[in-house]
Amino acid sequence: MSNAPAGKLRILTPGLGAVSTTLIAGIILSRKGLAKPIGSLTEYGDIDGVPVTDLVTSLDDIEFGAWDVYDESAYDVAARSGVLSPLHLAAIESELRAIKPLPGVFDPVWVKALADADHIKQGDNLMEMADQLVDDIESFRANGERLVMVWCGSTEAYLEPTEVHADLASFERGLKSNDPAIAPSQVYAYAAIRAGVPYANGAPNLSVDIPALVEMAELHGVPIIGKDFKTGQTLMKTILAPGLKSRRLGIRGWFSTNILGNRDGLVLDHPDNFKTKEVSKLGVLDSLLEPEKNADLYGDITHEVRINYYPPRGDDKEGWDNIDIFGWLDYPMQIKVDFLCRDSILAAPIVLDLARLLDLANRKGRGGIQEFLNYYFKSPQPMTEGARVEHNLFTQEENLFDAIRKMATG
Ligand SMILES: NC(=O)c1ccc[n+]([C@@H]2O[C@H](COP(=O)([O-])OP(=O)(O)OC[C@H]3O[C@@H](n4cnc5c(N)ncnc54)[C@H](O)[C@@H]3O)[C@@H](O)[C@H]2O)c1
Repeated sequence: MSNAPAGKLRILTPGLGAVSTTLIAGIILSRKGLAKPIGSLTEYGDIDGVPVTDLVTSLDDIEFGAWDVYDESAYDVAARSGVLSPLHLAAIESELRAIKPLPGVFDPVWVKALADADHIKQGDNLMEMADQLVDDIESFRANGERLVMVWCGSTEAYLEPTEVHADLASFERGLKSNDPAIAPSQVYAYAAIRAGVPYANGAPNLSVDIPALVEMAELHGVPIIGKDFKTGQTLMKTILAPGLKSRRLGIRGWFSTNILGNRDGLVLDHPDNFKTKEVSKLGVLDSLLEPEKNADLYGDITHEVRINYYPPRGDDKEGWDNIDIFGWLDYPMQIKVDFLCRDSILAAPIVLDLARLLDLANRKGRGGIQEFLNYYFKSPQPMTEGARVEHNLFTQEENLFDAIRKMATG
């Protein structure tokens, strides 16, 4: 018998860009029978023969809500982003035109490429902005909807945690005094937790992964997780590296480069924003290969990551990997990967899964960091600061299924 919840689940996205509109369009197309939600584990997975769809909100019961710093409908954004075909867009044009973003909390210092943004909330300080977001959130659940928030906004500039992030009291003082180290995404995360709404961060910037917000999520019993959706190249890395390690083949170098032409690519073209992404992408190999335990095989790896903004490609990213490996008696070999992927097509099902599973966790009373969702992230949020995180996709999948199994029976 199905344990799927009754009632509506509204997915709230700060950021109504390529990923969010691909998610929204995909759900509407799927429920009309015009396309299939491929890539979604909550749609196609099963646990001991029981479909995961029996545990999560049906596609028919999902609604949307968004904030953005440009006042464009979901249709206009989707048409401009060029991810979906005109045929798909035409079939759901009226639904997409009806979805319009509320004004965002923003400061161009965090995303210099969006300096002309003009759909922005006004207020004397960041706490006032958070209050406005909480009001928005309440209006999104006026008809009793359950809510989940997934950050699909641009990657913000690189930031190291400071004193203001250290605990909740300092953070709230910082909101009132407009502390310059508080990023807009952190204001959304704060507002979500205050309103009891689970929050996930799809971008690599520091957002809910600060002690102040972890403390707050535990206090309020709200599920949180980050960060940086694991799609294209890093997905490949976390599939390939465990395989090479399993055969005890050595790795001397891993050079990864990408070309990307959408707005995300434009934002990442700025060094401050690229730095945030680079740190997130570089962390993966060390943790997977454990060079400290395998010095002969992985003790001296050169790992480089590049992203180039190349407008002609739009959302159709191309990622090349050159992997210098070595085998028996140190003889060198090479692997070349050329992944012609579609960024938002890979990211959209992750947002759907995260929303459904965070909602499941919330219904089961699980607050704080949801480690079982590491499967979806490039830089999984550690349970305690500095703790090792699992990057192996297959181990992450086992952990995910274990947690869902427990929630199903608990
Ligand atoms: N697509 C992928 O494969 C993938 C993988 C990992 C991470 N991401 C991250 O997901 C995010 C979304 O990607 P995308 O391709 O949709 O980018 P996008 O540029 O198309 O959309 C981001 C949207 O966020 C808006 N925005 C920026 N700051 C905001 C704020 N403070 N409040 C509200 N809106 C704001 C922008 O105006 C834009 O419309 C990016 O940060 C990207 O790095 C994407």
